[in-house]
Amino acid sequence: MEFVEWTEKYSTGHALVDAYHHIFFQMVEEFGLALQQGDAVGMQDRIAFLVDYTFMHFDSEERVMAQAGYADLEAHRASHQHFRDQVNAIHRRYVDNPEGVQAEEVLSLVQDWFAHHILGEDLRFRNRLIRS
Ligand SMILES: [Fe+2]
Repeated sequence: MEFVEWTEKYSTGHALVDAYHHIFFQMVEEFGLALQQGDAVGMQDRIAFLVDYTFMHFDSEERVMAQAGYADLEAHRASHQHFRDQVNAIHRRYVDNPEGVQAEEVLSLVQDWFAHHILGEDLRFRNRLIRS
């Protein structure tokens, strides 16, 4: 699996949001390396942690946007919620039947969605910060 690495193009210009994103990319990479090495130990914990971290990050990012008076906050929240629903569904499937969900599936869903979300939607917030 190809991993998306964090580069400056993902920078939102907000230190806290960028720190979260940076850690997120590192976490996804470590998760992927553990998978490639066949390290199945604790995979359920890793998946649960990835889910928790993603949600914690969304909450934090929404707070930052609210404090900045970001006009598109509700649309952004809806986008986050759509992803929360997808991740919750896959996580439930995993808890019900760990054999029925490949960790790669979780990883690629999270990585693809997140990379596209940052480039497509979080960067709109950067443009708003730059203009203000
Ligand atoms: Fe976001």
